[in-house]
Amino acid sequence: GTPKVQTDVVIVGAGPAGASLACFLAAYGIKGIIVDLNSTSADTPRAHITSMAAMECLRDIGLDVIANKLATKGDCMLHTRWAHSMAGREYARIYSWGNDPKRKGEYEKASPCSPVDLPQTLLEPELVRYATLNGFQIRWNTEYLSLEQNDNNVTVHVVDKVTGIPYSIEARYLFGADGARSRIVTQLEFPLEKHPGGGAAINVLVKADLSHLVKHRMGNLHWIMQPDKEHPEYGWMSIVRMVKPWHEWMFILFPTPGSKLENRPTKEQYLERVRELIGDDTPAEVLRVNVWNINEIVAETYSKGRVFCLGDAVHRHPPFNGLGSNTCIQDAFNLAWKIAFVIQNKAGTEILNTYSEERQPVGKSIVQRANDGFRDHAHIWNALGITLPTVQERTVVLQELEANSPAGRERRKKLETAISQTEHEFHGLGIEMNQLYKSSAIRADDETLGQEANNPDPILYHIPSTKPGRRVPHVWLNTAVPSGLVTTIDLAGKGGFTLFTGIGGEAWKSAAAKLSEELSVPIRVYSIGFGQDYEDPYFDWARVRGVEESGCVLVRPDRFVAWRTKQVEGDATWAEESLGKALRAVLSR
Ligand code: FDA
Repeated sequence: GTPKVQTDVVIVGAGPAGASLACFLAAYGIKGIIVDLNSTSADTPRAHITSMAAMECLRDIGLDVIANKLATKGDCMLHTRWAHSMAGREYARIYSWGNDPKRKGEYEKASPCSPVDLPQTLLEPELVRYATLNGFQIRWNTEYLSLEQNDNNVTVHVVDKVTGIPYSIEARYLFGADGARSRIVTQLEFPLEKHPGGGAAINVLVKADLSHLVKHRMGNLHWIMQPDKEHPEYGWMSIVRMVKPWHEWMFILFPTPGSKLENRPTKEQYLERVRELIGDDTPAEVLRVNVWNINEIVAETYSKGRVFCLGDAVHRHPPFNGLGSNTCIQDAFNLAWKIAFVIQNKAGTEILNTYSEERQPVGKSIVQRANDGFRDHAHIWNALGITLPTVQERTVVLQELEANSPAGRERRKKLETAISQTEHEFHGLGIEMNQLYKSSAIRADDETLGQEANNPDPILYHIPSTKPGRRVPHVWLNTAVPSGLVTTIDLAGKGGFTLFTGIGGEAWKSAAAKLSEELSVPIRVYSIGFGQDYEDPYFDWARVRGVEESGCVLVRPDRFVAWRTKQVEGDATWAEESLGKALRAVLSR
């Protein structure tokens, strides 16, 4: 028969989803094997925008340091622009990714991390390296074929593409991180919620030093539209995306709507189009071309038995709002502690159902937002006249933008409104940070505490809260010895539960110590306030904690609030009973 090996877990796919899952599991000491069809990590830069939410996950295991080192920061993300060409006239610009002067403070308040621009080509190898240095093995050139599962384990059939030799891996769990064409999702017949796709887009990777053109127009995304010119059907308009400042760029070409792209253009034709989009005589070279599809698909459930899917396998959407790899990393972070706790007998297997319950609604919402983000751009195209069929009609519109006439004023207003609406894409702090998990691993049923403040626009704004199911708010705290501020984000996570309390909450310390021993689960307790473990010099914790000083906020290993209670209402036994009840429920024990 075919050779068979055994391990804890198998991950199919070493993209952002699979590789980050391996890292988070490795941090818990879980061993496993990753298989990937390819010979190496991503060969084309795809996702770039790395959000604070994803960065916080990496920070939990110290990977934020290398991510920050590899990322380009600051000014390069300052704007998104709309222009006739890179060298030519600018129609409009909007601040992006936390750089809007009126919104910068919100970003700083929401997280100790900053959004960065980090291409997948640079992030993935670091994830794979961390995972393989910490207990995972990776098998490149290895194709996943099929699986069988029973009550005890899952058998994964793969083939080594180098030798052609098939073999099987027996594990406790299998993770399908096999991307948008997931064979695992297809084989297990996960129901998919599908909306019609938005067509194809063509990524043309280009070497061209455009420093002189962006020096005064900083930004990583530049929409180029030339309504007054004829254009080939494969290059109706383009997003020019920074890859390496400022000498490598992705020219994302959108074909004319409805075109079938039957005749694939040559490299020379692409180059010609790229040069028109650059708009001056800067030397340029086409490095490679990839076609991808704009999807609007989400799986209705993410797991079946011992198989859990994550990343593009279960949510497929375009890059607007930069939610792709960020959501993959957060799927993995949600799943890792649950799997590790079950394997290590710290949690009951029912906790694994909460992965799909918590992450599927997130996937659904980001698929919709990314596609709404794309649809929002249509208002800009209309305002600029780019959607009209002839050069003549389009030129009239372009001239109208300058006209001292009611039509001119209306058109300028239309453009302004359409550009402003894209704040939902370029400053979507809410969609990035406002997740609200609902499952048995969140105890909100005895919630008698105050309501959250009304959020006027949940895509744009993040309102920190300790409501169970929300991410624990980031608050800078002081230490007794002057040694720099510490964030609640760093006190929480790191493989264990964290309980935040304050003056009068001593009962929680002994309760947590007892329960930690009894349940074999790490629980750290920090008292925050005057003369406590940490002090709250800005009173920010006092404002956001949502409970009385002696109350407590219990935070899961993934830094989401599991439970909170208003105040100490009895003796040590009471504290132990109420905390124990919450913990056992959260852990399905
Ligand atoms: P991902 O697709 O990255 O990884 C899946 C892995 O599984 C691959 O390494 C593959 O080899 C492996 N695999 C698949 N089937 C297998 C099998 N049977 N056996 C073994 N291995 C198997 N996003 C964005 O934000 N901005 C952008 O510009 C782009 N552009 C873009 C271009 C192209 C060409 C693609 C394909 C994708 C994008 N994306 C993007 C999307 C972004 O790249 C995406 O959200 C993440 O890569 C998804 O990460 P995953 O790990 O889920 O899948």
